[in-house]
Amino acid sequence: MAGPQHIAIIMDGNGRWARGRGLPRLAGHRQGTENVRRIVREAKDQGVRYLTIYAFSTENWKRPGPEVRGLMMLLGEFIDRETANLHAEGVQIKHLGSFENVAPRLERKIHDAVELTQHNTLLTLAVAFNYGGRADIVNAVRELIGAGATAEDITEDTISQHLYTHDMPDPDLIIRTGGDFRLSNFLIWQAAYSEYYMTPIFWPDFGVAEFREAIHQYGHRERRFGALPEASPNIK
Ligand code: IPE
Ligand code: IPE
Ligand code: MG
Repeated sequence: MAGPQHIAIIMDGNGRWARGRGLPRLAGHRQGTENVRRIVREAKDQGVRYLTIYAFSTENWKRPGPEVRGLMMLLGEFIDRETANLHAEGVQIKHLGSFENVAPRLERKIHDAVELTQHNTLLTLAVAFNYGGRADIVNAVRELIGAGATAEDITEDTISQHLYTHDMPDPDLIIRTGGDFRLSNFLIWQAAYSEYYMTPIFWPDFGVAEFREAIHQYGHRERRFGALPEASPNIK
């Protein structure tokens, strides 16, 4: 099967990575942010067109204030440090999520990075930040109704067209690091027919070899989308 066009990653396990080393959780988040760079580069080298990374969920606000503030700070630092490089490499940055409760300064940084890179076409890096899958769907329906949609206008296509991912294909492959087997409110609509790859490896340790292994395994999956398998000469 052709390689995945869109890979989405639930970057989990930063806290446990840090705890295992006797470090504060934020050190794990810092190491996790470092890891994003090499995976983005590898995605580009593998010919992936869209890479979506789950950076902060709408539920992550439930964490202690210092951790939330630390995560916001790291995202700001990542944008400051990486935007120019990503732009030079032809990467388009997108934001999936809302700006509710996000500091205006960080919102501006995100806007600027998105605007600067909007015409790049080599790889789209979509950052799911302050993102929730249910909120994504509620938002889409509200937009439709706000634009005067009737009951008949609410279809799978029109909802898809109003999601944060409206100009992206659905993810072919969803990778979750950190050992859990759940979506945690990530792209729940878009993931309807995605292939899943779970690994116990914590996100900061998830390197190029593991990423290639996930892509390799994807290549052996058979996606049927509810239809019957490809006819084989032995099956009549
Ligand atoms: C993922 O790592 C990063 C975010 C959720 C922001 P965690 O912080 O969830 O790490 P664990 O799951 O506690 O190890
Ligand atoms: C999912 O991880 C969110 C991100 C990776 C940003 P969580 O650590 O928040 O998920 P749960 O709470 O274990 O489901
Ligand atoms: Mg976690």
